[in-house]
Amino acid sequence: MKLTLRFLLPVLAALALLAYALVPFVEHLMEVWSVRDLNIRSILIGKTVGPDLQRLLVAPEDVAKNKKKLQAALVKATEDERLLALQICDSRQKILMKTDNFPEGFACSTMDREPAYHGKLFKLPGGSIHFSYAVIDTPEPEPAEVTDGIEGTDGTFLQEEGAPIAERIPSEVLARSAGFYPLKLMIVQDMSYVDRRSRETTLYMAGVFLSIGLLMALLVLGIVRWSLSHWVQSVRSLVGGLRNPSKARLAIQNNQEFLPILKDVQALVKEMEVSRQQQDETRMTWNAATLREILKKQLSGERVIVASNREPYIHNRKGDTIRVQKPASGLVTALEPILRACSGTWVAHGSGNADRDVVDGHDRVRVPPEKPSYSIRRIWLTAEEEQGYYFGFANEGLWPLCHIAHTRPKFRSEDWHCYMKANQKFAKAVCEEATDPSPVILVQDYHLALAPLLIRSQLPQATILSFWHIPWPNAESFGICPWKNEILSGLLGSSILGFHTQFHCNNFMECVDRYLEARIDRETNTIIYKGKATQIRAYPISIEWPPKSLEGTPPAAECRLRLQQKHGIDPKCKIGVGIDRLDYTKGIVERLRSVERLLQKDPQAIGNFVFVQISAPSRSSIPSYQEFAAEVDKVVAQINADYGRDNWQPIVYLPVHHEAEEVYLYLRAADICLVTSLHDGMNLVAKEYAAAHDDEQGVLILSTFAGASRELTGALIVNPYDIDQTAQALAVGLRMSPEEQRERMNLMRAFIREFNVYRWAGRMLLDASRIRLLDKLQHARLQSHGADSNEEETYNFGILPSGGPIRL
Ligand code: G6P
Repeated sequence: MKLTLRFLLPVLAALALLAYALVPFVEHLMEVWSVRDLNIRSILIGKTVGPDLQRLLVAPEDVAKNKKKLQAALVKATEDERLLALQICDSRQKILMKTDNFPEGFACSTMDREPAYHGKLFKLPGGSIHFSYAVIDTPEPEPAEVTDGIEGTDGTFLQEEGAPIAERIPSEVLARSAGFYPLKLMIVQDMSYVDRRSRETTLYMAGVFLSIGLLMALLVLGIVRWSLSHWVQSVRSLVGGLRNPSKARLAIQNNQEFLPILKDVQALVKEMEVSRQQQDETRMTWNAATLREILKKQLSGERVIVASNREPYIHNRKGDTIRVQKPASGLVTALEPILRACSGTWVAHGSGNADRDVVDGHDRVRVPPEKPSYSIRRIWLTAEEEQGYYFGFANEGLWPLCHIAHTRPKFRSEDWHCYMKANQKFAKAVCEEATDPSPVILVQDYHLALAPLLIRSQLPQATILSFWHIPWPNAESFGICPWKNEILSGLLGSSILGFHTQFHCNNFMECVDRYLEARIDRETNTIIYKGKATQIRAYPISIEWPPKSLEGTPPAAECRLRLQQKHGIDPKCKIGVGIDRLDYTKGIVERLRSVERLLQKDPQAIGNFVFVQISAPSRSSIPSYQEFAAEVDKVVAQINADYGRDNWQPIVYLPVHHEAEEVYLYLRAADICLVTSLHDGMNLVAKEYAAAHDDEQGVLILSTFAGASRELTGALIVNPYDIDQTAQALAVGLRMSPEEQRERMNLMRAFIREFNVYRWAGRMLLDASRIRLLDKLQHARLQSHGADSNEEETYNFGILPSGGPIRL
């Protein structure tokens, strides 16, 4: 309707304007035609009235004598409806006779003075009139052939040649008429009918114009509407074809002319897809379903393959029964919900003593045991391999190298060989698990630094996302590694390499800059090494929200009660907690010393504060870990001995593994939590503590050297090396008002809720899908330009595709 009006109104307006412009022209035309008609009628009138006048007005005295007859002749002539009035003038310009209604202002002299009046139109108040005159010549004495007749001023004859004069007039009478003739008959005709006619014609024309216009407009509108609906239908079938290739082919066959549009739309959709993948992250609600959706929509339903040293479920035999244990590992805590959400395969070292007993013929086992949703593919390592690769190179070499916790790294070439061998085993298993040539593979942590390049060599089209869960040191520190180049180039087999913080990304790029021949694009954080691009990105890891393991945890008061009963803690005591692997990087000794300092400085804390330290035994065959465990034992014993009383021990030390559900019980019960890592990639215990406190109470003391300190701004941030500062934070925390605790806790909880582990994984997968899309475009481009192009030039289209040198 809108379209109809939009189209019709201007057309009608244009036609109305045209009709309006034509009115004066039509009026003029009517006038010219009418004047011409009336001129001819004047001649006829002259011819008709002339003989009567010649007969009745021979001499001046005849005017009075024949007055009545003359009047009758004039009145008779004016019976014609268009002839308005007549007036007779003699040659001396004297009015001899006129009808009553002859208009004023037309004297006999007018004809001589204003000859232009003849045959003219005059607009008078009563209506338009036409003025003309006819010359009536002296009557002929003898009946003869008339040669000049009655001649008008324009030289035309008023009487046809050869026409006889009505009557014969004696010649003596004719002599009296000298000086009287020729007479002039002034004729006034009514022209108001011309006005009427031109009005009618105008109306008629307007009607005709409008009808034609309306008809044309409707016709055009019909054609336009038909074409538009045909066009829309064609475009729709083409756009529909974007989703369905067979539909697209059909649509193109039927609508060849739309092919350029289809190409444009396709290009646009792809562009939008790329930008949407970048924009959407901030607008999404991140949960397991979102992640599944991304995999399905952005990665065309591809399953993910995860590779890490540590497996998410360890099967151990105790007597006759096989028990499943979940390891204390931040990496496992973060990735397990991802695999649960997305299914797929997790390739990991089978480290449990009953792991071999539960796998199938392909070394796979379905997990989680209570509700299987993905598979673990187990890798078997000999004791020697495990020793050299895991305990040796990974945990005595790379771990201290990256943490800078002042434990000297040990690099042995036999460890390095085991490390290479183990990485080859992992890479081989990953490739075996891949069901298509371009799988999405998530390689995890420092145990598998060589795997990305090894996988890439077998699956060049794979999208490899590697994540380094621990800190990356500066170039000086990293430079002491004898195999630094191999480690760096191994990681640069990845499409994307992630760290927790930008600081660690920068350190990595510095190392590449220092030790490899590579091009570093610092604007896009991309490294181009041997013609292949790796994006270096910060993806701060997080936890599941809400954590699954928290589901069965009772309310805070109940948790406290259980702890009080289990450890004989007086209900009046505030409870502090520290939960880590027994690792020298966690700052456990520094933490205990801070508790000791609190007791020294704040006597009120004595008897009123208990600190529970849970330390899951870890890497216990490594001497540095053994020494560290012994040191912690000693410090705990010393502090308890120095400050403990009969019914109160300041430190409850639990150096045993606790399952996630138990860990949450302690976290929820605690008034205060200490995370004092000397260096840590992120530290998820800090986030778990905030997640546990749905009562919005509790104080987190957090090391500035943990990645989490960049995000959990509601925590009391400390330098764990500064014992006094941490002790002071403890004192502040113990006295913090419930309101302040609530504000700080809510700040942290809101952040973790929004930046949960699904978002961490989702961001990487979105980036991966973007890279895959660009790869596909690049691939298509190569094909359309011919794979054997000789051009060697490498083009940078912003972000370089992974998987090989770029040639056009
Ligand atoms: C750190 C590492 C993980 C590792 C975890 C537990 O968080 O980044 O890769 O799994 O410690 O150590 P473990 O040696 O027991 O696997």
